Amino acid sequence: MGVALRGVTRRYPGLTALDEVDLEIEDGTAVALTGPSGAGKSTVLHLVGGMDQPDSGTIEIDGEKLTARQLDAHRRRIGFVFQRFHLLPALTVLDNVLAPVLPRRVGFDRRARATELLDAVGLTGRADALPSELSGGQQQRVAVARALINRPGLLLADEPTGNLDSVIGREIIDLLLSLRERYGMTMLVATHDSEVAASCDRIVRLQDGRIIADERITPADDVLDRLGGLRP
Ligand SMILES: Nc1ncnc2c1ncn2[C@@H]1O[C@H](COP(=O)(O)OP(=O)(O)O)[C@@H](O)[C@H]1O
Ligand SMILES: [Mg+2]
Repeated sequence: MGVALRGVTRRYPGLTALDEVDLEIEDGTAVALTGPSGAGKSTVLHLVGGMDQPDSGTIEIDGEKLTARQLDAHRRRIGFVFQRFHLLPALTVLDNVLAPVLPRRVGFDRRARATELLDAVGLTGRADALPSELSGGQQQRVAVARALINRPGLLLADEPTGNLDSVIGREIIDLLLSLRERYGMTMLVATHDSEVAASCDRIVRLQDGRIIADERITPADDVLDRLGGLRP
């Protein structure tokens, strides 16, 4: 899924969280959003995820303007991973993964997909466990599986390693990057961690609601080649 922000401004009383931000993300690219606390990283993720709307400017998805009445449908095309996992403590691992699709009619076998995703995140055999029986890294793996239940074209992650030690955080970012390849997703990761950022295809640095640096690590052609392999 390709994403573009065009002249996006988001204001709060007395403060401009994003100031006319222009950012284009090609389909299949993994982009790290870095910058100090308060720079506007989460605001970008919420806007791109359809959980918030700009005061001015537009968000485009695959070249189409995202309008207010498309937001519900748009949110279902997106996976979101948070710093604090946000699992439901009374539900099993399997039911946490299923939670986003339980209230809805869907065109696929929910349990089969949830089980496949638990395998993909390395939690085979843990479907009946409760979150409290898992380590932090394992809980984040459940959250990653849950984020993928709708086969999103775009994965948004807000400080996904922020509550984990560096070794486990590394495992989670490697998992996200490999799932991105496997399922052909675009990925946008807000992170304070320079090692996490360096493992992405591109690093966009925000400060005071503006982009102050934009560094490409993987050439755009290589990203296209990778997608070509995935989408014959
Ligand atoms: N709901 C809100 N109400 C008021 N100010 C907010 C709100 N959300 C974010 N902000 C402010 O917007 C700025 C950017 O916040 P945020 O996007 O969360 O930054 P980051 O994720 O980079 O730490 C900060 O100054 C923050 O305090
Ligand atoms: Mg934030």
